Amino acid sequence: MPRRDMASTARPSDVPGGPPVVVAITGASGAPYGVRLLQLLAAARTPIALIVSAPGFRLLRTEVGIESLADLRTAIGAAAWDACVTSYDNADSGAPPASGSAATRGMVVCPCSMGTLAAAAAGASRSLIERAADVTLKERRRLILVPRETPLSIIHLQNMMRLARAGAVILPAAPGFYHRPTAVAQLVDFVVARVLDHLAVAQSVVVPWGGSCASSD
Ligand SMILES: Cc1cc2nc3c(=O)[nH]c(=O)nc-3n(C[C@H](O)[C@H](O)[C@H](O)COP(=O)(O)O)c2cc1C
Repeated sequence: MPRRDMASTARPSDVPGGPPVVVAITGASGAPYGVRLLQLLAAARTPIALIVSAPGFRLLRTEVGIESLADLRTAIGAAAWDACVTSYDNADSGAPPASGSAATRGMVVCPCSMGTLAAAAAGASRSLIERAADVTLKERRRLILVPRETPLSIIHLQNMMRLARAGAVILPAAPGFYHRPTAVAQLVDFVVARVLDHLAVAQSVVVPWGGSCASSD
């Protein structure tokens, strides 16, 4: 069942419209990327259909101390969450993201485990996340996968190749260093900004590379 709670604090002009971006958080290391992605999408007033796998919740707990959807709502900001986020149980195979007739702006799996990546490559559709990825590909919508694994086996690489050939964007959680980051948050923002670029959602957290680094030394 969808869980949506329109906040009394959300003004009508703040309430986003249009189809949602499907965001899935799975059990790869990199929960901070998923949290930050939700924060920035909500800040941009983008409707979000959120699905978190059971291992995704485990990683949220382990890496950022988020124990529940309620904690995640607090991390995103209650008003922004209530205005933008509709969450679905990963076992709910009848939720809107399971059907191509429900319009979306595409789907991001961030972070994306090798398990979910393999399932998407196989069209397995055993959970809502897997089915939504399958639907996104068959409807020729944007599917962005943010894998985190190292090293990569030939099976991982073949799965990525298969997905890329089917139209998915493989966007590894591999931050660059040419902006001279001094904090983990900047590394996280680097990756999330690239995801937003591929969703055509405006972001100003990372300045596009202009050919040189501003530096005093
Ligand atoms: C602490 C921890 C870290 C993990 N990190 C990764 C990872 O970086 N990449 C990965 O592919 N799987 C990782 N896993 C394994 C996945 O969570 C596991 O394969 C899980 O079944 C994936 O399920 P899901 O895709 O439904 O979330 C990790 C598991 C744990 C407990």
